[in-house]
Amino acid sequence: MDFKTRASTWQESLNRNFGENSGLAYYAAKAFISKEIAGWIAQAGLGLDVCTGGELAVAKAAEFPAERIELHGNNKSESEISDAIDYRVGTIVIDSLQEIERVARIAHNKGVVQKVLLRLTPGVEAHTHEAISTAHEDVKFGFSIASGAAWEAVEKIAQLPDLELRGVHCHIGSQIFGTDAFEIAADRLLAFMAKYRDTYGTQLPKLDLGGGYGIAYIEGETTVEPEDVLPTLGASVRTACAKYSLDIPAISIEPGRNIVGPTMFTLYEVGTVKDVTLENGTHRRYISVDGGMSDNIRPSLYGAEYTAILANRTSTAVKTSSRLVGKHCETGDIIIREIDLPEDIVPGDLLAVPATGAYGRSMASNYNHVPRPSVVAVKDGKARVIVRRESIEDLLALDI
Ligand code: LLP
Repeated sequence: MDFKTRASTWQESLNRNFGENSGLAYYAAKAFISKEIAGWIAQAGLGLDVCTGGELAVAKAAEFPAERIELHGNNKSESEISDAIDYRVGTIVIDSLQEIERVARIAHNKGVVQKVLLRLTPGVEAHTHEAISTAHEDVKFGFSIASGAAWEAVEKIAQLPDLELRGVHCHIGSQIFGTDAFEIAADRLLAFMAKYRDTYGTQLPKLDLGGGYGIAYIEGETTVEPEDVLPTLGASVRTACAKYSLDIPAISIEPGRNIVGPTMFTLYEVGTVKDVTLENGTHRRYISVDGGMSDNIRPSLYGAEYTAILANRTSTAVKTSSRLVGKHCETGDIIIREIDLPEDIVPGDLLAVPATGAYGRSMASNYNHVPRPSVVAVKDGKARVIVRRESIEDLLALDI
């Protein structure tokens, strides 16, 4: 499925499962953003989650509708907050007590009443059932519900006329399969919203449940589709609202990886093929390509697994156990630790590594002064460069 279809499918599924209580699917820009992508997201009717001034700058350059932007981040600078308010972003998601004062002061100076959400940590660990999800308070993000920090934040905001508290938010993790963790988080946030209603006599209108929907990287894994999770989530939100006698708030989500990840692949050119004799007498084939940890740090950083496919021709050669490595001066520059690839692969062959769309290009670096690759969009058999390849001039541009 292509990017635009994946994006609109999330919003449509949210609309279908939450009806009039459907908020926005905010695409998490950190997964991968460019002006073109921001334009596609705007067109598809989604919102945009940005977490730095840089991501906000891309949104602005693409003239992304400000009302549909959410500013995240656990340490937003004064200038990031100021730029966001100047652009009139719809929502700022507050992450600390200091930030409450900071945003209120900057909004006050600009004569703006800023809509905010509070990022809460519900004490849920993804992949894990409630019974064993105790001590997960030890994170830098948000306000803990259990410790009372979240309520302290509510009381502080209530005293500040420059901030309008619109609701609460959580993001429980990434690459999550199943719905248990989301359901527990939703229940805890709704309980918190009920406490707010009981104290202040009005209900907060919004609940944002964050992103984290998993995708398939290798054979045997299955990408989570919106209809795999949102019907269950819808049912459990309705159940919790009935339990706490709450009106159902507007429900938002923030998928990043799930939208862009499966829609992109990295195309490498093979440069060398080398057989190395191991201590036990067996051989390992090292296939080196023209990229590596500078365009995909995920294998070395998270032990992430990928697969690769010979892309420029078909081969009937037998497959041999190979290790796919990059061009960087580092032994750990491994893209795929072990993969069976056709024995006749030679320099000049092209290898496609699927599912690199999320956190590949967006976490790319210039390690070893390797220029970052271009990003090419394909439609109806036609290719178009949407982010150009970095040049040596780009690399030298900052040196004084
Ligand atoms: N919302 C918030 C507040 C987030 O912090 C994140 C991701 C998302 C949404 C989107 O999560 P997604 O749907 O993409 O899983 N670099 C790591 C992933 C870090 C995710 C950080 N926050 C990786 O390559 O796996």
